[in-house]
Amino acid sequence: MNKQQLHQLLQRSHARKEEWIAFRRDLQQYPELSHQESRTADKVASALRRLGLKPQTQVGGHGVVAELKGSRPGPVIALRADMDALPVAEETGLPFASRRHGIMHACGHDAHTAILLGAAQLLAEVRESFPGSVRFIFQGAEETNAGAKAMIRDGVLEGVNEIYGLHNLPTLPVGRIATGSGAFMGSVDRIEITFEGKGGHGAIPDRCQDPIVAASAVVMGLQTAVSREISPFEPAVITIGSFQAGEANNVIPQYARLIGTVRTFSPALQQTMKARIERLAGQIGSAYRCNVQLSYIEQVSVLVNDPRSVYYVEQTADMLLGREQRTTAEPTLAGEDFSVYLEHVPGCFFWLGSGSAAGCEQAYGLHHPRFTIEEDCIPLGFALLASVAALRAAEISF
Ligand code: NI
Repeated sequence: MNKQQLHQLLQRSHARKEEWIAFRRDLQQYPELSHQESRTADKVASALRRLGLKPQTQVGGHGVVAELKGSRPGPVIALRADMDALPVAEETGLPFASRRHGIMHACGHDAHTAILLGAAQLLAEVRESFPGSVRFIFQGAEETNAGAKAMIRDGVLEGVNEIYGLHNLPTLPVGRIATGSGAFMGSVDRIEITFEGKGGHGAIPDRCQDPIVAASAVVMGLQTAVSREISPFEPAVITIGSFQAGEANNVIPQYARLIGTVRTFSPALQQTMKARIERLAGQIGSAYRCNVQLSYIEQVSVLVNDPRSVYYVEQTADMLLGREQRTTAEPTLAGEDFSVYLEHVPGCFFWLGSGSAAGCEQAYGLHHPRFTIEEDCIPLGFALLASVAALRAAEISF
């Protein structure tokens, strides 16, 4: 595909955009939580059938996968979108706002789904122009960090040479993208720490072993794990988001429980966090005469982009949108289960600007009840994904 063909593809994406914007608005009205994406999956499968593809459904839960074969055998390039919504009550006031109270596409996965369908349409129209095949992966349950693992278990990466995906970003103006090599998004682990002390009367602490005091000391002690044990040049976060203990003002409870999240930006550092937290929580807890149990649940690995795949995306974006539209991504410790695919095959995940072109400093961020997207990011997103897939398929087979 040369520059002229890329521009034709961009023009076609604009001509096709109304259909996918309408599709996205429908999903916005009927959002579905992780593991419950059955309506969305049905709509995706029907749309793929209309494009002449034969989607496989119920992959890794409600996932949908379809393969588009090019002109002759060759590599397999995978493109992935996520489909699930969040337990957030929408406050955008849009005419196509969520009709399901308490559920909202507050991360824009409705747009990602529409973008991948648009890419499938563009590529289906030019299937004779590239070798190999493009595999479209629509996964659910991204927000619970379970979807990618389930899709891989069901074989979606078999035979795949490279994988690409994107996420909208409301703080980046529409028309722009942001890329980054290597570590791109953080690891996400969950910790649950249970303290067992000895309950009793609040006025007789000497006859008790207070798990609330022990857990409080651990909350404070864990702060030193990052500030005293990890290089200031290595990003890491330990946040205790939930502290559960006791019911009455005058009773020392038997148990206390902390639930938290651990983020890092390096796979090697991620591997050291469990032992560190176990030591601090266990030894501080036992100093306060409590038994401590740590449950450390690894959810998502660090998202590590393959430098060559990043280069291919950048090259394509520069030809399609212009070099001035591309920036280097700010690092973030937010997680994304696209990282799990990247542990198996090389690829690139990048940010697609979805904020106001006039200025998006005031934009509501991802997961906010007033989060919205500039819908012009949809045709740009699918033109980009389609171009990357077609170009890579052609290059690898040479
Ligand atoms: Ni998201």
